[in-house]
Amino acid sequence: MRNDICEIKFDDMSSELRALITYEPNGSLSVEVPQELIDEVRRNSPVVRWEMGVGFFGMEDVVAAGRNPHLVATEPSTGEPFGMGTSVPLIPLHLDGEIHRHYRRLLDPLFAPKKMALLEPQIRALADSLIDAFIDEGHAELHDALCVPLPSIMFLTLFGMPLEDLEFLNEKKNRILKNEGTSMMEMEQIGRAAGLELDTHLRCRLTERRAESVRRDDLLDSFMYFQVDGHGLDDDEIVNLMHMFTIAGLDTVTSSLSCILAWLAKHPEQRRRLVAHPEELARAIEEIMRSESPVPSSGGRWAIQDTEVNGVPIKQGEMVYLCWASSNLDPAAFANPFEIDLQRESNAHIAFAAGFHRCLGSHLARAELRAAIDQFHRRIPDYWITDGDEVEYELAGVRQAKRVPISFPVAS
Ligand code: HEM
Repeated sequence: MRNDICEIKFDDMSSELRALITYEPNGSLSVEVPQELIDEVRRNSPVVRWEMGVGFFGMEDVVAAGRNPHLVATEPSTGEPFGMGTSVPLIPLHLDGEIHRHYRRLLDPLFAPKKMALLEPQIRALADSLIDAFIDEGHAELHDALCVPLPSIMFLTLFGMPLEDLEFLNEKKNRILKNEGTSMMEMEQIGRAAGLELDTHLRCRLTERRAESVRRDDLLDSFMYFQVDGHGLDDDEIVNLMHMFTIAGLDTVTSSLSCILAWLAKHPEQRRRLVAHPEELARAIEEIMRSESPVPSSGGRWAIQDTEVNGVPIKQGEMVYLCWASSNLDPAAFANPFEIDLQRESNAHIAFAAGFHRCLGSHLARAELRAAIDQFHRRIPDYWITDGDEVEYELAGVRQAKRVPISFPVAS
């Protein structure tokens, strides 16, 4: 039995701990610099047990919990997911066990590192065209001008969908994720209504594609025709997956790109070094991802039978909360965790999660981040936060820099 479990009532929790486990939007955590408060939660109580369940905040426990087959990602008594604009479990996020492995076997090869690396020229060209729109101005707001459109347009391109869907897609995704409404119930209803509109639209695009006589070389085509061990995907599964990717792949890259560019704009010395040594960029991105952890914690997990994680007992039916952000600051896992060392040698961070549900799109996300930032540095090597203005952050499930106002010299 462990002696570092903090038993506490929900009402007695620190406001920071409560903000984390309730995913409180823009709540008690400083959205600009949440790291110290998140770390304090872990230092005070690496394991928390409250009325509803158990929360893990240290690297070793979070990784072990992520790999525990008795902890599942959909509330077993209802079978319904929460907060993703759907009443049916999303593939693969809300599935577990053999069925989850089945889908990951199908999907992982489509998002493998070598495949995603081939997208680099496309990502660079897209970044270039977005940069063209503001490079003569000497200033830009990078969240809207680059960080939002880049992953959304890549998504449309990868799925072979028309660019005219851009606004529709982002509007639905925002209504699903941004927690409008005054109660949890109302938020869920608004999210599900938007999710239904999204699915209807995605199904139309799929039907149009099925009517085409010529095959295309894109992800939608792959989803329609590929088979592993004699299994393919039907239309419901494909719409479900496209819903999943809309929710998982747009906001997360926007958040990460905006946090990284804001950090670089605020740290001119490190940025200059990176511009001079672009071969160090991939490692630098990993380190900023570790420190920023734009997706701070997992969705819900529940115990389907009595189990334990590193000696912490969990009862059947209890909820389990996993904090990636506090694990990424754990001194047992990283030397000097608060130092952002862009040359850090060993960096097994879990900003893309750990365990069975580790991010399926991490190689795509990394390809987008690397190519976009490198291209940005080639075009605009010197930039800073505009005098008298500031970066604005937001935490709504994911943390992002929702305004990144920069200035830069205009080439004569
Ligand atoms: C920098 C950007 C990204 C970050 C930080 C990120 C982070 C994460 C995290 C933390 C999880 C685990 C969620 C949980 O356990 O509740 C996850 C899962 C997932 N992500 Fe990402 N993600 C990113 C980009 C993407 C992209 C671009 C895609 C799609 C192409 C994607 C698709 C997925 C999927 C499908 C899952 C579920 C995997 C499973 O359950 O097996 N992600 N991601």
